[in-house]
Amino acid sequence: MDKIIIEDLSLQYADGTESLRGISLGIREKAVTVLFGPAGGGKSTLLRCLNRLNDLTEVKASSGRILIDGRNILDPKVDVIALRRKVGMVFARPVVLPMSIRQNLTYGLELAGEKRRAKLDEAVERSLKLAAIWDEVKDRLDDPAIALSGGQQQRICLARVLALQPEIILLDEPTSGLDPISTGKVEAALQELKKEYTIILVPHSVQQAGRAADYAAFFLQGELVEYGEGKTLFTTPREKRTEDYITGRFG
Ligand SMILES: Nc1ncnc2c1ncn2[C@@H]1O[C@H](COP(=O)(O)OP(=O)(O)OP(=O)(O)O)[C@@H](O)[C@H]1O
Ligand SMILES: [Mg+2]
Repeated sequence: MDKIIIEDLSLQYADGTESLRGISLGIREKAVTVLFGPAGGGKSTLLRCLNRLNDLTEVKASSGRILIDGRNILDPKVDVIALRRKVGMVFARPVVLPMSIRQNLTYGLELAGEKRRAKLDEAVERSLKLAAIWDEVKDRLDDPAIALSGGQQQRICLARVLALQPEIILLDEPTSGLDPISTGKVEAALQELKKEYTIILVPHSVQQAGRAADYAAFFLQGELVEYGEGKTLFTTPREKRTEDYITGRFG
C-alpha cells in the first residue's frame, strides 16, 4: 500500500531554479524507498517537502499535492508541528545536542509534555535498541553524547527521531562521512526498522542504493526519470539515462 502519494509536484526556488518538475510517485508503506541520482537532482528538495522544511527556505512557486494517509500535507491548514512528529528526518551530519545521551532522547518528549520518568526511560531504551546502539551506550547514558564517535552519534540522531514515534523516517545521506562499519550498522538498522516504518533514504552512493532499496527512484535535474523495484531497477533499468548513471558513465 502507498503511505505517501506525490502528485505532479513542482517547485521553483526564488532564484528561478526549477528543482522539481512534475514529480508523481507513490511511496510504499513499511519499505525502504531510495531517491538517488547526481548532485542537484532535487532529492533533498523532495525530502524537505515531505515534512514542510521548505517552508523555511525561499521558494518562489510550488504546485501539486502530497497525500500522506490520504491528506494533502501542503495544505496551509496542516499542523506542521504534528506533521514533523509523524515524519521524522535524519540529516547527513549528525547534530547531537550538547547534553547527555539520555537527554538527547528525552528532550523532544519532554518538550511535548511527557514528564513520567518510567515512560521516558522506556522510550530511551526502545529507541536506542531500534537504532542498534543500545549495547554500545547502555552503561553510559549520562555521558555527554558529543563524546561518542561519528557513527554512534548518527545512530543517536536516528534514535532521537524514533523516540518521538514517527510513522515515516526521512534520511538524507545519513552515512556520508561514516566508516564502513558504522555505515553497515546504520544500514542494518534500516532493514529492521522497515518492518514498522516507512523509510525514504537518499543514499550516499549507488552501491548503498542497491543494497538498501526495496523501491528506487532515479532523479535527474528535477525530473523523476525512472521508478521501480530496487532489484529490477538496478539490474535491468528501462531508461538509458538510469543505466548510464548506475554503471558509472556519469555522475
Ligand atoms: N535553498 C535553496 N535555494 C535555491 N536553490 C536551491 C536551494 N536548495 C537547493 N537548490 C537548488 O535546487 C536544485 C536541487 O537541489 P537539491 O539539494 O534538492 O539536490 P540533491 O539531489 O539533493 O543534490 P545532492 O546530491 O548534491 O545533495 C539544485 O539546483 C540546487 O542548487
Ligand atoms: Mg541532497
